[in-house]
Amino acid sequence: MRIEIERELALEFVRVTEAAALACGRLMGTGDKDGCDAAAVKAMRTALSTVEINGTIVIGEGEMDEAPMLYIGETVGTGRGPAVDVAVDPLEGTNVLAKGLTRALSVLAVAEEGCLLHAPDMYMDKLAVGPAARGRIDIDAPISYNLREVARGLNRNVEDLVVVILDRPRNEKLINEVRRAGARIKLIPDGDLSPAVAVAFEDSGVDVLAGIGGAPEGVLAAAALRCVGGEMQARLWPTSEAEAERAKKMGIKDVRQKLVMDDLVRNDDVVFAATGVTDGELLKGVYYSGHTARTHSLVMRGTTGTVRFIEALHRLDRKPELVKKGR
Ligand code: FBP
Repeated sequence: MRIEIERELALEFVRVTEAAALACGRLMGTGDKDGCDAAAVKAMRTALSTVEINGTIVIGEGEMDEAPMLYIGETVGTGRGPAVDVAVDPLEGTNVLAKGLTRALSVLAVAEEGCLLHAPDMYMDKLAVGPAARGRIDIDAPISYNLREVARGLNRNVEDLVVVILDRPRNEKLINEVRRAGARIKLIPDGDLSPAVAVAFEDSGVDVLAGIGGAPEGVLAAAALRCVGGEMQARLWPTSEAEAERAKKMGIKDVRQKLVMDDLVRNDDVVFAATGVTDGELLKGVYYSGHTARTHSLVMRGTTGTVRFIEALHRLDRKPELVKKGR
């Protein structure tokens, strides 16, 4: 059965990511990554509780015994409205915000129940591109092949492409291969979800996201790309037997299986919302000024493919609960 997630809910989801971003943005540069995360989680959970959905967290802060809020399996929303899978990352880039760097986001994706991959908290190898290169990539092929195909889709040269890769030793081989292929590279210290979404927008300055990063971020990025007709292919990258077992327990039979769009996000009935916490490729970070704060968000729906960028001015004196300082 397909239920179309109601259109009006899209704005409600933006309110949720805005609340999380407003709550944690104040803590930029404090060095307190746990505090940053806790502020975002608490605000997101409170905001989610008012939304008319019967939601279950499938990607969240961890298992029930390790996360008190927004844990996998927690029910969220009012309990009325459609039964949906909810994937959240109240603060993508905890280190980023704690240090005041770029690309921190508050993110939420909602899909029909059973339609999002229940990705365990482990690594995932990812290859993400925008709509112009959809159907041209194959994560099993060499990156040089993929870059040639993406360049063809974009009607540009490989040398023109910008590939974003997390700067980690585990990605070194890939980095060298991309260098040999001749593409330009942006090595980032953290936060690969923002550029994985940015590939869908040709003026973002990012064409490809490649390499091994977090699996939950991978599913969230796939939800965004599903909305706009981009493509992501992936493969889990467990670092221990225990992680492989955990993936199996979460329903992934073959942990080395190549994951294509339909495995990551089963159909187009998906909504993705994100609010910038610090500046990134697509979204500006939260800006505070006395009793007001400005947020920059993005919301998109897979059924229609509509993308909305929303700049909101919040009156904090009228909504003090939005930015209680601290946790
Ligand atoms: P957190 O917000 O959970 O700290 O994730 C930040 C991040 O950089 C992700 O964007 C990325 O996918 C993952 O961590 C990479 O993990 P690691 O830092 O272990 O290489």
